[in-house]
Amino acid sequence: MSAISIGLLGFGTVGKGVYETISKHQGRLQAIFGREVKVSAILVKNVSKHSLPDGEVLLTDNFQEIIELPKLDVVIDAIVGREPGYTYLRQAISRGCHVITANKEMFAFHGRELARLAKHNNVSLGFEATVGGGIPIIQTIKQLLNANKIERIEGILNGTSNFILTSMREENLTFEEALKIAQEKGYAEADPKNDIEGYDAFYKAVVLSELVFGKSPSQETSVREGITGITIEQIRVAASLGLKFKHVASIQKEQETISCTVKPVLTGEAHPLYRVEGVQNAVSIDADIVGNISLQGPGAGMFPTASAIVEDLIHIGKADFPAVFEEGKSEETVLEQPVWVIL
Ligand code: NDP
Ligand code: HSE
Repeated sequence: MSAISIGLLGFGTVGKGVYETISKHQGRLQAIFGREVKVSAILVKNVSKHSLPDGEVLLTDNFQEIIELPKLDVVIDAIVGREPGYTYLRQAISRGCHVITANKEMFAFHGRELARLAKHNNVSLGFEATVGGGIPIIQTIKQLLNANKIERIEGILNGTSNFILTSMREENLTFEEALKIAQEKGYAEADPKNDIEGYDAFYKAVVLSELVFGKSPSQETSVREGITGITIEQIRVAASLGLKFKHVASIQKEQETISCTVKPVLTGEAHPLYRVEGVQNAVSIDADIVGNISLQGPGAGMFPTASAIVEDLIHIGKADFPAVFEEGKSEETVLEQPVWVIL
């Protein structure tokens, strides 16, 4: 039987994590798929920067060489930015490939259209890695939505910002020193402005809003603020009072309006996010039947993110991937002005 053939877009922190995880856990994957699971081709920007242990894998900077492979079952997107990722995933879906993405910026803008296209072409669309790194937030929310109405989500959705705030307070590092370490560890975005100015957390909030409420947050009632305005002196004064700055995202629905707020918040010991430190992310979900559910775990980095992507891959293997956004919702709601463009 021929192998499951994967086209991997990107070979940075996330792409390498996925490649290594698929190699290392091949036995586990073969038991589920009943055949070999193979990365057949890898897309990068600059081929000369890379070398691969397996000489049979096609390494290219030309997506057409990947999409035209005679056999291609799954395309995994671990590249940067709205484009060319959106165009590539559209092509992959139209060709009948299942797709998985870690690219939250692209997905916040185009997730709904990709979901519609995937449904139309009867293929799966996995996006677990777009929110919360290794925490299975997306699957948990889909599971909850089977019975519950979700009223509010609050959490720390950016590992880099939380790592910086923790390192400044606990290690006495400057903002720049802490950011540099976050970059070296592979937590930060290619452009770290996305992390420290709150865009990344906002994109993740948009993905959650689309999943839970079937629409994006309203422009009039949403706020995006990063952590760059917080000084070391403010952090020290807060610490002397037993308080910590946390970069908190919240998404809630009031009547028909969805509001999203991403901003630094001073938390005391009683706050549920007070003890979430370093690269950890956490989410607290209020649902009408179950009550409150809290999840916490590694919010960024090579293997936590690879774990989320391979979980999506295994759902495809088990052929139990639920339909993407809630059925019916996405096509009926009119896409509001994408607020993150101007925030
Ligand atoms: P990196 O910058 O480490 O790697 C990006 C990779 O994509 C590189 O291999 C780069 O090629 C390739 N690439 C970028 N743009 C293009 C393009 N236009 N055409 C072809 N190849 C391209 O990023 P990460 O691995 O950290 O992140 C990848 C994606 O995953 C991003 O969308 C990010 O938001 C998301 N993500 C990241 C997480 C993390 O912890 N780092 C966690 C969850 C999601 P080259 O190597 O030649 O430059
Ligand atoms: N740059 C992101 C973060 C990666 O720090 O949270 C995970 O999405």
